[in-house]
Amino acid sequence: MKQKVLVMDDDPAILEVLEMRLATMGFDVTATSDPRKALEAVEAGRFDLALLDLRMEPLDGMRVMEALHERQPRLPVLIMTAHGTIQTAVEAVRRGAYDYLTKPFVRDELRSKIARTLATRRWARDRERLLTVGQALASSGVMARVLDAVAQATVEATDADRCVVFQLDDGRLVPMASAGSPPPSWERLEAAATTAMDKGMPITTSGSLEQGESGTIVAAPLVVQRGPAGALVIETAARLEPMEDDLEILALFSSQAAIAIRNTLDLERLRSGAVAALGRMATQVAHEIKNPLAGLRLYVRHLEQRLARTGDADARDLAGKIATTVDHLASVVSEITAFGRPPELHRQATALHPLLDECLELASARRPTDGLEIVRAFDPMMPRAQLDARELRKAFLNLILNALEALEGGGRLTIATAYSAATGSVTVTIEDTGPGMTEETLARAFDLFFTTKPDGTGLGMSIARSVINLHAGEITVSSRLGHGTKVQARLPLEPVSDSARL
Ligand SMILES: Nc1ncnc2c1ncn2[C@@H]1O[C@H](COP(=O)(O)OP(=O)(O)OP(=O)(O)O)[C@@H](O)[C@H]1O
Ligand SMILES: [Mg+2]
Repeated sequence: MKQKVLVMDDDPAILEVLEMRLATMGFDVTATSDPRKALEAVEAGRFDLALLDLRMEPLDGMRVMEALHERQPRLPVLIMTAHGTIQTAVEAVRRGAYDYLTKPFVRDELRSKIARTLATRRWARDRERLLTVGQALASSGVMARVLDAVAQATVEATDADRCVVFQLDDGRLVPMASAGSPPPSWERLEAAATTAMDKGMPITTSGSLEQGESGTIVAAPLVVQRGPAGALVIETAARLEPMEDDLEILALFSSQAAIAIRNTLDLERLRSGAVAALGRMATQVAHEIKNPLAGLRLYVRHLEQRLARTGDADARDLAGKIATTVDHLASVVSEITAFGRPPELHRQATALHPLLDECLELASARRPTDGLEIVRAFDPMMPRAQLDARELRKAFLNLILNALEALEGGGRLTIATAYSAATGSVTVTIEDTGPGMTEETLARAFDLFFTTKPDGTGLGMSIARSVINLHAGEITVSSRLGHGTKVQARLPLEPVSDSARL
């Protein structure tokens, strides 16, 4: 495909000469002396280069350049100027022109400056892109963040209107990250992603105009180890035909995104391995502490009784405080031991809604809920199911407690359930409008003993996850700093053949 050059000059003779010379050099040339026409041309299609005359009435070349850059931000512009206005030309470069040409053109200057502009531009753009993606890859392994950076860099590098990174999750394509404006149709992007993954190579599709779809979609598969793990999809408005250059960039980005996914998966595996090892260690330590603690408790009770007999009230109070502290320690230790050894599930026909209500009541007893708005949105179609009520109570209690702890300054707690007979699963959502989590907290929330609370132990989330996982379910958290936190647990359900609905 020919590269497109826009030329604008108010001198018809120069315009004609330039048009001819550029055409001989193999460019597809649009020449005009009207700034409005120039703007319209860039609006209608993408250019690789623009040559603008600096002094033109009523708009000077500089203002035209700025207007063009609003429409196509990285369009390389060469400003043309007559001798004597070098100062202005320098100013033009400062304001975003790539270079300037002096008129009349010196032999070969035109050709060499154009060649340099096109070559350098590509190189500079590639380097910039790689830098952004490289930084994202080197930063923390929070998958969403890495993919976000990839999507963002893709949009910036390709002039596409949007980029969406899809990831294959349980046989389903899930949009994991997106940048640019929201897509008019997710289905089309998803369909393109599926095709690219099936073919194992980048594909281009154009919307059918009869169906009111405009625009072009380019999708590249993300290949991780054995097979495609998702796809990187970009969409451009109809006027922007993706060029070979764009396809190359897309291929580059999809391979970067694939590396990001692989690294993050590795990191996650490493992290869960480390957590498991830590859990085992914690259990051993807890065991070692358990017996001395029981002894300590006995001695303290004994001491308390003796002090009560001698009538030393102050000393007896102190002994009482020690006893309470030891009790607290013992309960922490028993929680750790329980955590370290995943329990066998004792499933029985369980009604989830009363169980959630019970947790809410328990939690409210521990944390005041005055002034809080509490919303229960329970799915009336929820069947009774084979679940371990005791374990689930622990999980949901911890999640509700976290929400209430986050809502100290007031707000809304929502507990919702949604049953899907089609997938045979229920989603329990516990959402608060509290302060939300920072990225770091979000990344570590499930880590054993990770806490940001002065008297937290950092066990709640780990317990919740281990219980939900034991039920073959999964738990996800999304949180926005300053807006709130949403925890969702999806549990597969085996409905009990019992007509009772809850
Ligand atoms: N709903 C929430 N809103 C804001 N931050 C939360 C929320 N839930 C969890 N967190 C963050 O995750 C961290 C870990 O939570 P986790 O329940 O594991 O421990 P904890 O609440 O600190 O202590 P505990 O073991 O007593 O529950 C919390 O310290 C908090 O920073
Ligand atoms: Mg907690």
